[in-house]
Amino acid sequence: MKKRWSFFREAVKSFRSTGAIASSSPALIKKLVEPLPADRPVTIVELGPGDGCVTRAILNKVHPKSQVTAFEINESFIALLAGIEDPRLRVLPVGAETLTDYFEAGTVDFVVSSLPLSMIPKEVKAEILEQSRIALGPKGEFYQYQYALQDYGLMKDYFHKVSVSFTAANLPPAFIYSCFMG
Ligand SMILES: C[S@@+](CC[C@H](N)C(=O)[O-])C[C@H]1O[C@@H](n2cnc3c(N)ncnc32)[C@H](O)[C@@H]1O
Repeated sequence: MKKRWSFFREAVKSFRSTGAIASSSPALIKKLVEPLPADRPVTIVELGPGDGCVTRAILNKVHPKSQVTAFEINESFIALLAGIEDPRLRVLPVGAETLTDYFEAGTVDFVVSSLPLSMIPKEVKAEILEQSRIALGPKGEFYQYQYALQDYGLMKDYFHKVSVSFTAANLPPAFIYSCFMG
């Protein structure tokens, strides 16, 4: 309850960067983490973890030797994320558009993004997608949710294959892009 209230407070304070009024529902989170493997260690980047609802689900699901790096720019959320005690998690207080400052080309297996893409300036959004594509290996996968399909075409410009699923069990209902490098 406390986390939900923190999310709403931050959403009101910084709606343009938060881009939602409530954190993701359990149904949406389940769909986002479903593709992550539990049986082998992988390198995961999370973009826009916010209050950590998706972060926790990722950590609950993945292999004990997987590594999760989260990029978040909101100071209140960064403080909340510091409360997640898990040696597999590193929280970077920097924008997603600096991804390749931290990862060499082809070293990331999965990117899971909750970024409010429709509210991010076009050039920054292009930089984030380009850097994600560079950081992901040839078998890399990118997952992103959005409340309408306005960036479907853009996703297709950056990834070899893009499919879309939908969940009504979220406020608002959400589409999930599953993007594949190969
Ligand atoms: C819709 S919230 C997602 C929170 C949570 N992951 C969820 O699904 O409920 C979007 C988050 O992206 C963060 N954000 C926005 N622009 C960002 C950027 N350029 N780099 C990293 N994080 C960013 C916001 O601060 C916010 O925490």
